[in-house]
Order: sequence, then C-alpha cells, then structure tokens
Amino acid sequence: MNILVTGCSRGVGLEICSVLLREGHTVYGVARSYTDEFIALEQQYSGKLFFKSIDLSDSEGARKSVFKEFITNDVVLHGYVNNAAIAYDDIVTNLNLDRLKAMYEVNVFTPMMITKYAIRNMLLHKTKGSIIHISSISVHTGYKGLAMYASSKGALEAFSKDTAREWGPLGIRSNVVVPGFMATAMSASLTEDQRDKIYARTSLKAATSVNSVAETVAFLLSDKACSITGQNVHVDNGTI
Ligand SMILES: NC(=O)c1ccc[n+]([C@@H]2O[C@H](COP(=O)([O-])OP(=O)(O)OC[C@H]3O[C@@H](n4cnc5c(N)ncnc54)[C@H](OP(=O)(O)O)[C@@H]3O)[C@@H](O)[C@H]2O)c1
Repeated sequence: MNILVTGCSRGVGLEICSVLLREGHTVYGVARSYTDEFIALEQQYSGKLFFKSIDLSDSEGARKSVFKEFITNDVVLHGYVNNAAIAYDDIVTNLNLDRLKAMYEVNVFTPMMITKYAIRNMLLHKTKGSIIHISSISVHTGYKGLAMYASSKGALEAFSKDTAREWGPLGIRSNVVVPGFMATAMSASLTEDQRDKIYARTSLKAATSVNSVAETVAFLLSDKACSITGQNVHVDNGTI
C-alpha cells in the first residue's frame, strides 16, 4: 500500500513510518524538517520511503504542495495518516486568537484539505482507502491548559465520523486513534510532577507506548480492520 504520513520527522509519525515500512508498505512522509532519524529510515528502506518538506500551516497551499508536487495522480493512495500537530496550551482567559488560528491551520484546516484531495485520489483510482486522524485523550478527559488544543482534536473526531458516513458506500474508511500522554518532544516541557499527575490518571500508571499507537494505526489501515469505520480507538493506558 502507498500511505501518506504527516509529521514523519520525529515522535509518533516517525514510528508510524517505521511500522508501515516493516510491513512492506511504501510511505510518503511530510514534515518541515528532514531529520537524521528519518534519513536513517530512508537508508534502511531505500525506494520505499519518500520525503517532502512542507509547512502544513499553509492550508491554502496544501493542494499544490502535497498533491500536485508529491502525491500526484500517478500515485495510487491507499491511506492517509493525519499525525502532524502542534499544541497551543494555555488557560482560556489567556487565549490569543492569532495563536489559536495558527494551531487550527496545522491541526484542522490543512488535514481537512488533505482529506479532500486524498479521497479524490482514492475515487480516481477506485481505491477502498483508509484515513486515520491522530487525536488526543484531552478531548475525552479534560486537562487544565489544553482546552484550545483539545478543541482542535475534537473537530477532527467529528470530521472523521462524518467522513466515514459520507464515503463508506464507496468503501473508504475513516477512523481516529486517541493516544494518551506519550513521552515525545510535544510533551517534553512538562515537569516531573505534572507527568506523575498524568500517569496517576491512567490504569497502567505509565506513559502510553508510541509503538502501540503506531501499531494501532497500521492495523486500522489494513484489511484486518475492513469493518471498522467512524470509530475513535483509544490507545491511552486506560486513562480516566
Ligand atoms: N505527545 C503526546 O503526549 C500526545 C498525546 C496525545 C496525542 N498526541 C498527538 O500525537 C501526534 C504526534 O505527536 P508527537 O508527540 O509525535 O509530536 P511531536 O514530537 O511534536 O511531532 C510533531 C510532528 O508534526 C510535525 N509538524 C508540526 N508542525 C508542522 C508543520 N507546520 N508543518 C509540517 N509538519 C509539522 C513535526 O515536524 P517538523 O517540526 O519537522 O515540521 C513532527 O514531525 C499529534 O497529532 C499529537 O497531537 C500527542
């Protein structure tokens, strides 16, 4: 399968690329930075992993940068993993509109535009494709300081549910993976005390495994998940 993965340069996106490559798929990765870790993967899976540096904060330019210059109509797209995101965290009374809009560009508007053109590619090639959005447990449990970020992920969950309904008749599936707290760059600024409080809210009392999230994405992309659509799959160590 040919899979588009955004946010491939590090963290969860890099792990998703790694799992998909191990399974024999071809991966088209997008991020701004071309990291050493990604290059190492490219060397290991020569000819199966491609990269384009794209700033996904430009939703208006996404069609050109992603679909005219990278995933052209010659590429038969089987899957799209919307993983790239930024977290704007602050308390609501400090909300800054420019920062909110900037986050929505990356987390919501560009993924919605990419979904539009990914589905068009699937229609062109009559592919029963699979779309996965990466959400966050903050949508379901609530954390102080994450209201703006969680709202962007909640928008994706609604978008996915209704996309599934709209395109299901043509065999196109859309699902969401909802990770709990993971130890990646995104969460690196948290103090040990903050982390301990987050772990205390999980049944397994630990950070969610990045690999478990990536393996779940790979499963949902595969035919093994052919009857799963419109779902939110929690991979969160049992967060309450
Ligand atoms: N970490 C957590 O605890 C946690 C919990 C729940 C959900 N999540 C979600 O899991 C997903 C992966 O998060 P992570 O922890 O792996 O985050 P991360 O380490 O910060 O990685 C984010 C990825 O997104 C890319 N990205 C960010 N802004 C971009 C832009 N403007 N244009 C293109 N690419 C951009 C980054 O690449 P460049 O910087 O190179 O562009 C990077 O590859 C996200 O959707 C996040 O919201 C994370």
